[in-house]
Amino acid sequence: MADPDLIDLRSDTVTRPTAGMREAMATAEVGDDVYGEDPTVNALEAEVAALFGHEAALFAPTGSMANQIALQLAVPPAHELLCDADAHVVTYEIGAAAAYGGISSRTWPAVGADLDPDVVAAMIRPDGYWAVPTRAIAVEQTHNRSGGGVIPLATLRELRRVADAAQVLLHCDGARIWHAHVADGVPLAEYGGLFDTLSVCLSKGLGAPVGSLVVGSAEKIERARFIRKRMGGGMRQAGVLAAAGRYALAHHVDRLAEDHAKAARLAEAIAPFGVLATTVRTNLVPLDLTKAPLDAHALAAAARARGVLISVLGPRTARLVTHMDVDDTAIDRATDVLTSILRA
Ligand SMILES: Cc1ncc(COP(=O)(O)O)c(C=O)c1O
Repeated sequence: MADPDLIDLRSDTVTRPTAGMREAMATAEVGDDVYGEDPTVNALEAEVAALFGHEAALFAPTGSMANQIALQLAVPPAHELLCDADAHVVTYEIGAAAAYGGISSRTWPAVGADLDPDVVAAMIRPDGYWAVPTRAIAVEQTHNRSGGGVIPLATLRELRRVADAAQVLLHCDGARIWHAHVADGVPLAEYGGLFDTLSVCLSKGLGAPVGSLVVGSAEKIERARFIRKRMGGGMRQAGVLAAAGRYALAHHVDRLAEDHAKAARLAEAIAPFGVLATTVRTNLVPLDLTKAPLDAHALAAAARARGVLISVLGPRTARLVTHMDVDDTAIDRATDVLTSILRA
């Protein structure tokens, strides 16, 4: 049982289902989803496809699996994916694109949300036997490791033009695309229209315990169903989980603005200590401790000793994340703890 006195700012994945969500899960209609017979999963898939203006969607247990299914749809073995050096797909997915899909990945230097479509265009390699041909480009919205940055709509439109000109596919790791939608006011369908496939998560900030979806054309999602089964992701009475996701979409998207406001407050309080890595746009507050008197492990240990949990991303980089299980009072307490450690 987690200690209720701890303020957990490590990630927005640490949330627990609310009473309303648990009620929705307990009363969900279910069936065997490998037979396509779970009405709640089917309803969630139809809802999410419609939200993004695509024909179909497929429920998957994790964001990593949803990404990897989408990458296998886009890139045949011995072909290439381009993405940011700090992208989740090449940082935290444990070599899955290579291990499962035989996919070669090449990265542009880590720039987070500030990506330059011309740099990406210059990296694309054409078909041929002498070099690995590029088949897809993946971007992350919002961008996790860079601190929740939002790629501007104009940049994404330009990247779409680049992808079309080179006839390569465009995938969005939209684990936190809801946050981008709330921060920039871009309709989800507008984002959807720019990508061949998207993966979106219900368990990052939206409060569901589990669940992601791959979104795309009916033909792609049919193939995705096959790949999901091959990866061991065919679930049976998954409606109990899909019910949590449907509840999250109905109740927890608009409220993300509150998490963004809490992150902005935290950022404002610690900014005078010169440790803010970048401007905070959403619910992630990245810390750069290069000039601080203590490193990331020391800061995390000192904060933990006073009841605040933070993430260590590197020797001098750390991260704070706001979410629905930390209220304003908790943010005030965390601010006091962190500022007093940084001041010492
Ligand atoms: C940007 C991004 N993509 C994908 C994922 C993967 O999600 P999961 O942990 O459900 O596999 C995460 C997880 O935090 C993420 O931040």
